[in-house]
Amino acid sequence: MSVELAKTAGFCFGVKRAVDTVYQQIEQYRGEKIFTYGPIIHNEEVIKDLRSHGVEVLNDEEELKTADADVVVIRSHGVAKYIYDILEERGITCVDATCPFVKKIHKIVAEKSAEGSYIVIVGNGEHPEVQGIRGWAGEQVTVVQTPEDAERFELPDKDQKVCIVAQTTFNYNKFKELVEIISKKRYDIVVLNTICNATKERQTEARQIAARVDAMVVIGDKRSSNTQKLFEICKEECLNTYYIQTLDDLDINQLRSVESVGITAGASTPNKIIEEVQNNVRINF
Ligand code: F3S
Repeated sequence: MSVELAKTAGFCFGVKRAVDTVYQQIEQYRGEKIFTYGPIIHNEEVIKDLRSHGVEVLNDEEELKTADADVVVIRSHGVAKYIYDILEERGITCVDATCPFVKKIHKIVAEKSAEGSYIVIVGNGEHPEVQGIRGWAGEQVTVVQTPEDAERFELPDKDQKVCIVAQTTFNYNKFKELVEIISKKRYDIVVLNTICNATKERQTEARQIAARVDAMVVIGDKRSSNTQKLFEICKEECLNTYYIQTLDDLDINQLRSVESVGITAGASTPNKIIEEVQNNVRINF
């Protein structure tokens, strides 16, 4: 039997970099109190493991203001500028693991704002990444998520320039649709497509593998929306698609009669879990 593991399975570049950064700090700052600002990743196993190494999570600004912290790691989503200011005021060492692609958006937004442009962020206003991006613009900023939001958007000063950026994980077709609605208003617009391809590439590869194997295994947390999406995509191509959280959920008997198995994993699935599943499938055949 052949086993094919997707190259894009698991952490994207930015998340891997952030998780690795926290582990590096454990080595570098032994005995110091290390925190992450928000969970470094939405995966219970990883958070538990970090806690066992003494790394705790700060959930919000209030906790940051009072925490007895020596080192704070900023996760891949990035944060608003004022969070860096609080860290500096409090004399806490800041280790910045913001994904470089997100950092680039911060830079664009800060520059365009300083030049007097109105900033439109296409994305989900509740998402920490968008809140972080927002925190690099001045007062003149809005978040647009739906066609209705885009219709409603009106520039206070019609001669002002508009700069549109996107949340990195936003759907490209939806982004295009919202940009078109805003474009009809005939403002002076600069559109910067800041969507990251990591999610799209993971989905495309999963679909291709699922289409050529007899069974497909998708690994990820049950609550992870990007893993659910991966599962749906694979199921469309391959009826024998199984959604598991860890090796314990895998019923190897289901794979006994097949000749080829594909494996992929959601964006927050640690490599350790992917390896365990892969090795187990290989050993059993
Ligand atoms: Fe990941 Fe960075 Fe893209 S965190 S999804 S590589 S923007």
